[in-house]
Amino acid sequence: MAGKKSKSVNASKHGASSKLTMGIDPFESGWIVFSIALVASFAALVSIAGFFMGFQIVGADQEVDPTTFTSEAPWSEPGLREIADGEYEAYVIAQTWTFVPRELVVPAGAKVTIKVSSPDIQHGFKVNDTNINMQIVPGQVSVLSHTFEVAGEYPIYCTEYCGQAHHQMYGAVKVVSQAEFDAQAEG
Ligand code: CUA
Repeated sequence: MAGKKSKSVNASKHGASSKLTMGIDPFESGWIVFSIALVASFAALVSIAGFFMGFQIVGADQEVDPTTFTSEAPWSEPGLREIADGEYEAYVIAQTWTFVPRELVVPAGAKVTIKVSSPDIQHGFKVNDTNINMQIVPGQVSVLSHTFEVAGEYPIYCTEYCGQAHHQMYGAVKVVSQAEFDAQAEG
């Protein structure tokens, strides 16, 4: 009796192990293929973004000392300046809870390279209706360019929760006609 019982236990053990080596469940193999394809596509997308679309981590030339940079040029005089015909750069300081300056006035058609850094904590810098949406990390300079073709007001928001008055941390890019821009520059 006892011998028979142990035999049947062995048999079922064998049955189980032979089932395991017979093949992978089709659902499981499907998910394995899917998860490998997912990781492969993420790797491909990150490579395309990094090598062909300019998504890079900041280099040494994009580092500042968060404790001193606001008193050093060009950050000590933040704002917009023309660097070539129709091309501008703007230095903006993102700090609790404002942007310095809060408003950038640019002429329509201008290509503006915006450089932003923070002397205190992490902030966000998003310009509505553009591709500009950056993390602002103390010690690093975030840079993106945009050509403002259409006149109008483009609100700027801090997109990173940065404390009590985070919701008041906003500004605007005001895109005006070239004539209006020239008149303001003279006045
Ligand atoms: Cu700065 Cu939210």
